[in-house]
Amino acid sequence: MPVIVEPDSTAVADLQRAQPAGSHAVGTEDRLTAWLDQHPDEYVVVLGPSIALDAAVGVAEDLRIQRPTVSIVLVRDEFDTELLTRAMHAGVRDVVRRDDEKALTLAVERAHQLHAALRGPAGARRLGRVVTVFSPKGGVGKTTASVNLALALSDGGARKVCLVDLDLAFGDVAITMQLFPTHSIEHAVGSESAIDLAMLEGLLTRHEDSLTVLAAPSHPDVRERITPALISRTLRALREGFDYVVVDTSPSFDDATLTALDETDECVVVATLDVPTLKNVKVALETMDLLRIARGHRHLLLNRADDAVGISVAKVESILGMPVAARVTTAMEIAASTNAGTPIVIGTPQHAASQSFRDLAELMTGQSVDGPGTSRASTGRSRGLFRRGRN
Ligand SMILES: Nc1ncnc2c1ncn2[C@@H]1O[C@H](COP(=O)(O)OP(=O)(O)O)[C@@H](O)[C@H]1O
Ligand SMILES: [Mg+2]
Repeated sequence: MPVIVEPDSTAVADLQRAQPAGSHAVGTEDRLTAWLDQHPDEYVVVLGPSIALDAAVGVAEDLRIQRPTVSIVLVRDEFDTELLTRAMHAGVRDVVRRDDEKALTLAVERAHQLHAALRGPAGARRLGRVVTVFSPKGGVGKTTASVNLALALSDGGARKVCLVDLDLAFGDVAITMQLFPTHSIEHAVGSESAIDLAMLEGLLTRHEDSLTVLAAPSHPDVRERITPALISRTLRALREGFDYVVVDTSPSFDDATLTALDETDECVVVATLDVPTLKNVKVALETMDLLRIARGHRHLLLNRADDAVGISVAKVESILGMPVAARVTTAMEIAASTNAGTPIVIGTPQHAASQSFRDLAELMTGQSVDGPGTSRASTGRSRGLFRRGRN
């Protein structure tokens, strides 16, 4: 059912008249976020005349990436071409005048038709979620986290997961998993317009039964030829065939990383307990704020989170202004698992680090991930925080 964002009750009553029975109204953008989290099937957000244009544009920009099947309809007392252009660029589907009840009814109907078409019959076509693992520093554990998180998400094959290595010059996902890819993302160069799931399937490498990898090119100089369009088309196509697309990145805001972050639903930010890394992570988070990337969907992973280095977890949280979602301590078994090509989540599933990666996966899915000696029924730790629909 449509959801209206409008603090003024008279305006709400006017807007509701133009909509199907059962439409819901919230007073603020924050309430809207909570509503959408609980309503994975929502198809339209109507932003009322009291919502400031900047705020409305912000909502549209966020939803354009995070909930592409939700249409935004903007209601204004009046509007000009400049406003229309700005709204359309932000991803607003329709702008209607407050007193034009008929136009609003039609806009909501169009949103419903679009939603039904995108989801297919009986909602069959569900899009997977893109989870990007990022840090502005190298060597902090991005690849370790990507690989183990992807394996934890796949839960032994219960979910379809594709791990994409976007560290295009020095990607080491394949070697970390002891894979020997015959194809990589490099083989999509030149075929950008033909990228779809069927085409990409020929470029993927399987890791045992549970995970699929799109490897980085084998030579660093190929990086120049992998365009942002190629990357975004690849991620969009993979969403159609996988429940989760996990993206490992290089330690900088290069074009590949920025493109992935633009497509991202959930972002895992990796930090370690040293001042230079924390400083750079803080700058990176501020940049992500400016670019409106994954706001409200960032999860801080503290790697090598050992007590004896003089910076506490509380201090990290206050420096970075966000809670630590998961911690992994320094462990010889992690380094050894990388060297052996068997990620710790499958090599030593009972290790505390493996549990941390499963906890992180649980945060993404809202469902517990089985480890040794646990069962879905007995863990009962489903937090539901990110149990957003994949629509
Ligand atoms: N918590 C940890 N304890 C011990 N070794 C670790 C830990 N996290 C990562 N490593 C090791 O550090 C190295 C760099 O990690 P990696 O994940 O490749 O970092 P990045 O991708 O950020 O450059 C790898 O050899 C990995 O095994
Ligand atoms: Mg790496």
